[in-house]
Amino acid sequence: MKPNLTVVILAAGLGTRMKSRKAKVLHEAGGLTLVEHVVNSALALTSPDRVVVVVGHQAERVQEVLTTAGVRFAIQPEQKGTGHALEVCRTAVPDHDGRLVVLYGDCPLLSVGTLEKLLADHEASQAAATVITTELEDPTGYGRAVVDSDRSLKAIVEEKAATADQKKIREINSGIYSFEAPLVWKHLSEIKPNPASNEYYLTDIVDLFNQSGYKVRALLHSDADELLGINTKLELALVDNIFRERKSRELMLAGVTIRRPETVLIDSKVQVGVDSIIEPFAQLLGSTILGEECVIGAGSILKNCQVAERVEISPYTVAQDSRIDRGATIGPFARLRPGNHVEENAHVGNFVELKKTRLGAGAKAGHLAYLGDSEIGEGSNIGAGTIFCNYDGSKKHTTKIGEGAFVGSNSTLVAPVEVGPGAYIAAGSVITHKVPEDALAIGRERQAIKEGWARKRREMRSK
Ligand code: UD1
Ligand code: CA
Repeated sequence: MKPNLTVVILAAGLGTRMKSRKAKVLHEAGGLTLVEHVVNSALALTSPDRVVVVVGHQAERVQEVLTTAGVRFAIQPEQKGTGHALEVCRTAVPDHDGRLVVLYGDCPLLSVGTLEKLLADHEASQAAATVITTELEDPTGYGRAVVDSDRSLKAIVEEKAATADQKKIREINSGIYSFEAPLVWKHLSEIKPNPASNEYYLTDIVDLFNQSGYKVRALLHSDADELLGINTKLELALVDNIFRERKSRELMLAGVTIRRPETVLIDSKVQVGVDSIIEPFAQLLGSTILGEECVIGAGSILKNCQVAERVEISPYTVAQDSRIDRGATIGPFARLRPGNHVEENAHVGNFVELKKTRLGAGAKAGHLAYLGDSEIGEGSNIGAGTIFCNYDGSKKHTTKIGEGAFVGSNSTLVAPVEVGPGAYIAAGSVITHKVPEDALAIGRERQAIKEGWARKRREMRSK
């Protein structure tokens, strides 16, 4: 943490080029909104009360995703350009002293290391302003950096205002700045609207600083990828891909096996224990945490799940907001809707759907079942085709199965209903009343035999 360092993040624009109803900084890459990534980098440098986010389009929504971060906000009701966006922070920042770093909310790949390099370089050169630049094969759309041989930055020329010669410049403005704060606040109001767009460009401050004889430096950064700004959904996809690659690499270097890493989707916050294996096309999303030595089968999707050690999720399982304890086996083709707790060594097999259900330790539901709003005791067995009828058309009801109970195949349990510990339900039963401990319940028509019936029918037909 650097004392006296304020960070302003510009995030008020709609992002017309995204062609979306959603404000640009609310789009997600790597499993977080763009603005969250930028705020996280800022918070590595300074305390939340020294971070100001400029909001405008869908301001409430942006503030909502950042509530836990504890940062400050400034409102820019009308988006009159990046210079104007900083201007609206004049009273929102805690003071006008020290260092001011300005970041754009649409540049989420920026690393803390690079920001630290910026601050160190700024310190060492004693510049009034330092701007991170990079060289691009195709600089179209970016502001071009007009740089002297001694790396002093003379001006930033926006695409719209650039001459044919300036458009050939491949060194671009990343939109990451470090300023001597008092000088910015002094000169910011001198920025005039750009004649081409009528917007106040923050980049014009470079020229103003030069006119006042202040030192302005361009710090050339070699990793252009890290500075990618997102203006379109195409760029959003490119950046998302970079986040996924970064995350997979980080996990593999920490001891996780990922088969065909280019196919998996792992969100930034996900944690995975060593010696876990992630198979192709798996998705680990949100706040999912996996313990050690787990296997996540091909095509499985886990969102906000807490998974202990040695859990095996077979292919094409979809699970959300559920807790899965050590040694449990799930899938293939299982579905865990929110609110389940699958306890140690329990088994959920193919085409079994769970919702708000506690499946006790060692209990098994191997095939084709719907188990909703239920408590299933340790070591019980739920047969193929079992349905818990939890919904009566207006309300949900619970089903309780005691420890070591056996529910025969194709049973229907009409909730609210309870099956005692060690009880047996005969296959094909419809259970509407409580089954006592250790009892057998048979809830179906007794089988009848009609000798010779089939033969007689055939004879009738052949006449
Ligand atoms: C900007 C820079 C350009 C640089 C590029 C890097 C200016 C004038 N140009 O261009 O030199 O190469 O970023 O990615 O600064 N915003 C507001 N309020 C506004 C306008 C913008 O908060 O009134 C926010 C946007 O939400 C966005 C950021 O500022 O997060 C950048 O705005 P954008 O319109 O994307 O600027 P670029 O055209 O990309
Ligand atoms: Ca941009």
